[in-house]
Amino acid sequence: MSKQRIIAIDGPAASGKSTVAREAAKRLNCVYVDSGAFYRGVTWKMLREGVNTKNPLAVLPVLLKSKWKFEVRDRAVFFSIDGVEPGEALRDKDVREAVSDIAAMPAVRKFVVSNLRKLKKLGSLAMEGRDIGSVVFPKTPYKFYLDANPEERAKRRHAELIARGETEKAQEVMESLERRDKKDSTRKAAPLKIADGAYVIDTSEYDVEGVARVLLGRISDLEKPRSDKMINPI
Ligand code: CDP
Ligand code: CDP
Repeated sequence: MSKQRIIAIDGPAASGKSTVAREAAKRLNCVYVDSGAFYRGVTWKMLREGVNTKNPLAVLPVLLKSKWKFEVRDRAVFFSIDGVEPGEALRDKDVREAVSDIAAMPAVRKFVVSNLRKLKKLGSLAMEGRDIGSVVFPKTPYKFYLDANPEERAKRRHAELIARGETEKAQEVMESLERRDKKDSTRKAAPLKIADGAYVIDTSEYDVEGVARVLLGRISDLEKPRSDKMINPI
């Protein structure tokens, strides 16, 4: 069996995390994990139950009562909540507008982080999110932080929404990403930041293949035997 790798990929919205993590998972035979989907899943459940997504005291009891089941399909983790798989509904507008409030709640983070850590038993993982290198798997040597300028990120996300048949204007998408990034990077619990030791990749000028090449190159560098080790001269 090859060695277990935990590849942690963090960064702001639409920086290319999921596309690149899926690619890395395919090439390195890892299970792909979209940790944002877990926070979106909690949000989706609360909206379905009519719970106020800004009130942690209302969210927690419903979350703790919910039954989550996980399974791996096509080398990616999927889940159902109380027997229903949210699927594409996780990307809906009401979910994406409320998810950052839900993700700022420490009890929600505790629940999600504990489930994410359990996935280690699946073997090698390519997990993307906001706090994978800083909180979920801080000891992994394979940490990445993807970024791209806000205009490029908004352009990418806008193109995706149009392809889904949504009608949001480019300016609205830009403002929505800015709001989410601000909440995600200024919250007290596990804010978005560059984890210690993370390798930063600015994806603004790269296509997906280019970013994948840089990421895989870094992993292969990390695994090269160190020939430059200092030998103690004494
Ligand atoms: O795909 P995109 O980058 O737009 O979002 P996502 O990865 O699906 O994450 C949705 C939201 O979940 C983020 O805006 C964060 O509020 C939250 N999140 C988090 O707090 N920690 C993570 N590890 C992943 C997502
Ligand atoms: O997961 P995250 O929100 O960080 O971004 P994503 O969903 O992987 O990427 C958002 C969109 O940008 C997707 O449609 C990707 O195909 C596209 N993309 C790109 O054009 N160039 C890249 N280097 C990475 C992603």
